[in-house]
Amino acid sequence: MPTTVRALQGDITQLPVQAIVNAAKASLLGGGGVDGAIHRAAGPQLLEECRRLGGCTTGEAKLTQGYRLPAKYVIHTVGPVWHGGNCGEPALLAACYRHSLQLAAAQGIRSLAFPSISTGVYGYPFELAAQVAISTVRAALEEFTGLDEVIFCCFSASDLQVYQRLLGEQPGARPAAPGQAPGD
Ligand code: AR6
Repeated sequence: MPTTVRALQGDITQLPVQAIVNAAKASLLGGGGVDGAIHRAAGPQLLEECRRLGGCTTGEAKLTQGYRLPAKYVIHTVGPVWHGGNCGEPALLAACYRHSLQLAAAQGIRSLAFPSISTGVYGYPFELAAQVAISTVRAALEEFTGLDEVIFCCFSASDLQVYQRLLGEQPGARPAAPGQAPGD
């Protein structure tokens, strides 16, 4: 069965999925933003496990348990800091999504939610990041089969609108009939 890819608005720490992705920092020792929220919701055992991982380089991903989260696992990945776009940021951001999906598939995870990696403290322009996220996930799902669902978890309503537009699922838009181009 093909994997469902969709966006929703919410707090990723509350989602009833098998794994959530954390936009972490290289030390994996917690921080602000979604990282702080995940550590608060998961409890202190998450930090204990993270201490044993020895950090994570930009674009890589590491798996831990989810502890008190509804999600059984957390996949920690480190996004690039935005320096204007000519310092390899798109490739590094794509690597975050790809490696997270690879790890999820290897672990037999069936449902996975991503936050919008790098678009907070790390300053990556939201829409550019969403384009990378969607195209990378779609391409990686050709290779890493076995997931039922991938969710892009948007923190704000305006962020969700961007994802819905890019995914072609504007609210209220009628899906095109088979063989019909959108807008025909
Ligand atoms: N659920 C879903 N999305 C959220 C949540 C939440 N609970 N909280 C924030 N976001 P950021 P980065 C969104 O700054 O840019 C940390 O200190 C937020 O609106 O969390 O990758 C780490 O330790 C934004 O769209 O991550 C690193 O040092 C997105 O999550 C650094 O920040 C990412 O924002 C990583 O920076």
